[in-house]
Amino acid sequence: MEPKPVSDSQVEISQIMMPPNANPAGNVFGGVIMGIIDSCALIVASRHTHMNCVTASVDRLDFLSPVFIGNVVIAKGSVNYVSKSSMEIGISVDAECLITGRKAHVATAYLTYVGLDENDNPSRIPGLILETEEQERRYKEAEERRKNRLKKIRKIEPQGPCMVRIEN
Ligand SMILES: CC(C)(COP(=O)(O)OP(=O)(O)OC[C@H]1O[C@@H](n2cnc3c(N)ncnc32)[C@H](O)[C@@H]1OP(=O)(O)O)[C@@H](O)C(=O)NCCC(=O)NCCS
Repeated sequence: MEPKPVSDSQVEISQIMMPPNANPAGNVFGGVIMGIIDSCALIVASRHTHMNCVTASVDRLDFLSPVFIGNVVIAKGSVNYVSKSSMEIGISVDAECLITGRKAHVATAYLTYVGLDENDNPSRIPGLILETEEQERRYKEAEERRKNRLKKIRKIEPQGPCMVRIEN
């Protein structure tokens, strides 16, 4: 399996916030931002692996600036680190005001995605080619986060899927 450059799977998605995305005061729900983060990470993971990828974990997520109806949410994602079957995807989220043109940083998220084979078992995924100093820094930081993350995982006996997959 050939390793792939980080740039091959980098993603930027933009979405305008509409009234159903917000509370009555116009503040966008955190869950809407989380959904955009997860979608962006899924595209990155799928581009890197060309496999069915699932979210194994999302690190602590803090919302640093409010987002309002009418703002554009911009999520940028890339693979930070790759292990055997899992990878850390980093997502940076900004909000843009279309009236003033100003942008604010809303959140940084780190998600672990796992590539699955045709039997839904974790599968070996392509390695990562680091092309810039920033990517090397992110890789080292992600490696450290992974160590800490794995220490904290409470091992619960998995119950397995409760439903069968709905086939087309
Ligand atoms: C994630 C999942 C595939 C892991 O399966 P598993 O049988 O526990 O697999 P393993 O213990 O062999 O771990 C596989 C990889 O996932 C990583 N991993 C497992 N659980 C993790 C967690 N909670 N956080 C971060 N990484 C995790 C392991 O470190 C391992 O990485 P590596 O192969 O790169 O070393 C399985 O728990 C699952 O299917 N969960 C549901 C995922 C899902 O549907 N998410 C969407 C929301 S419902």
